[in-house]
Amino acid sequence: MQERGVKLIVKIAFFSTKNYEKEYFRQFNADDRLQPVFLEERLTANTVALAAGFEAVCVFTNDVVDAAVLKSLAAQGVRLVALRCAGYNNVDLGAADALGVAVVRVPAYSPYAVAEYTVGMILTLNRKYHKAYNRVREGNFTLDGLLGFDLMGKTVGVVGTGRIGLLVARILGCGFGCKVLAYDPYPDAGFSELEGPDGPVGEYVDLARLYRESDVISLHCPLTPETRHLVDEPAIEQMKPGVMLINTSRGGVVNACALIRGLKSGKIGYLGLDVYEEEADIFFEDHSACGISDDTLARLLTFPNVLITSHQAFFTEEALKNIAQTTLSNIAAVERQEACPNRLFAASEA
Ligand code: NAI
Repeated sequence: MQERGVKLIVKIAFFSTKNYEKEYFRQFNADDRLQPVFLEERLTANTVALAAGFEAVCVFTNDVVDAAVLKSLAAQGVRLVALRCAGYNNVDLGAADALGVAVVRVPAYSPYAVAEYTVGMILTLNRKYHKAYNRVREGNFTLDGLLGFDLMGKTVGVVGTGRIGLLVARILGCGFGCKVLAYDPYPDAGFSELEGPDGPVGEYVDLARLYRESDVISLHCPLTPETRHLVDEPAIEQMKPGVMLINTSRGGVVNACALIRGLKSGKIGYLGLDVYEEEADIFFEDHSACGISDDTLARLLTFPNVLITSHQAFFTEEALKNIAQTTLSNIAAVERQEACPNRLFAASEA
């Protein structure tokens, strides 16, 4: 075991790395605690051999860390998987535990980044900034087709009142004067304390009431076996006609085919997605020259009332800084065999 204060030299392979994040890791690794090698490749069964000779790997949301990949990593001597994200639905924690591979994550790098982005998506879909921007640049100053609605007084359903959901409830309830209906199997006392212009911003309700009464529904729960396709055809059926649905959590929380049917029937009036169930082979890359191979995503993009972004909600300077700092301290804690609050075990799965 290494002593506190002794310089740690950990050889670590970073998968799915982009230029914009490298600079933050370099900045916070000024004492060379890590020997990082930045790879553009996504970690999958086909690329796992690239981890040979490394003690640790650092991965992001769309890297595959299933039992087979973990087995190959362990066989190559990797003993630590450092997630530089909060969600860990892509990791088989049971397999990691059994193989003696430590898994750490960054639980909260900037809930503000995601909450503020979510509100931005709501405003964009409602007030159509993106359409107005293009229209005016082409010399068209008309307002036809740009009509929105006041958020003040509207009912917003927040599914999952953790770090991000609670902030969304605060911004929309305390700031915009919306009524917030929340659903979470583990209610947070902080939500009930939120005060809007006319008293408490809202209340916890069951999902059926949230679906029935909300003008806007925003998803902020993790992807677990219980929440996979939480928003499916029967759920959409219960929603208000013309509902606005926003998903900045994980793509698998909604059934994309059910969304298409909801858009076609008009049940869904506005759809904002920052995540997509099959995003792994598409998001974060430039497909402009070859087109979109995923027919469901391509169909979603044909609707004028759909706004899709490429898992961008987290993407602020503060978040990138926090991700780099927390990842480095997670790795140092595991290497020093110190207790690490951000370590994940199979038993910690929601
Ligand atoms: P958190 O762990 O603080 O909160 C999640 C909340 O969901 C908890 O209160 C939990 O009790 C609740 N929950 C669990 N099961 C539920 C269910 N069946 N129905 C409703 N609620 C349920 O997580 P945080 O940090 O607020 O993140 C929320 C989501 O946002 C996660 O899925 C995460 O992966 C995603 N995320 C997306 C980002 C992006 O860039 N688009 C960036 C960061 C996080």
